[in-house]
Amino acid sequence: MTSSWEQFEELIKAEMRKVYSETAIDHSMNPRNVGDMKDADGFAKVTGPCGDTMEIWLKVKNGTVANATFMTDGCGTSIAAGSIVTELAKGKSISEARRINQQDVLSALGGLPEESEHCALLAANTLRGAIRDYLAMKKEPWKRAYRKH
Ligand code: FES
Repeated sequence: MTSSWEQFEELIKAEMRKVYSETAIDHSMNPRNVGDMKDADGFAKVTGPCGDTMEIWLKVKNGTVANATFMTDGCGTSIAAGSIVTELAKGKSISEARRINQQDVLSALGGLPEESEHCALLAANTLRGAIRDYLAMKKEPWKRAYRKH
């Protein structure tokens, strides 16, 4: 027998399915790679035009993204975008990962409503920022001492 909470949850999901793909709902409700990272090799914090912020941390081994995590104070769609962009980045070489763009995030999420597409842009921009940070730190490692994250 299903509880009234489960019924309520199913009702909400049914409403969400009218607008979002199954993948977007899944990554929004069960986000992967959430949290900050100690001793990250790359980090970025970006605030989008909507005022929401995303942070991404990267661990890089042998030129490959070994791990990626994110945090956001944004909407459910930005949670889904942060979750999928970190999944897309993991296991990719730095040069492959830096090419991940808004369209890649949207495709991986099975699309988003037009008014939410900027959430995918925020995720892609934050990933790129974290990669830029990694590359800058690699060039000038002494700057790490001045970094807050
Ligand atoms: Fe701002 Fe989604 S509404 S990131």
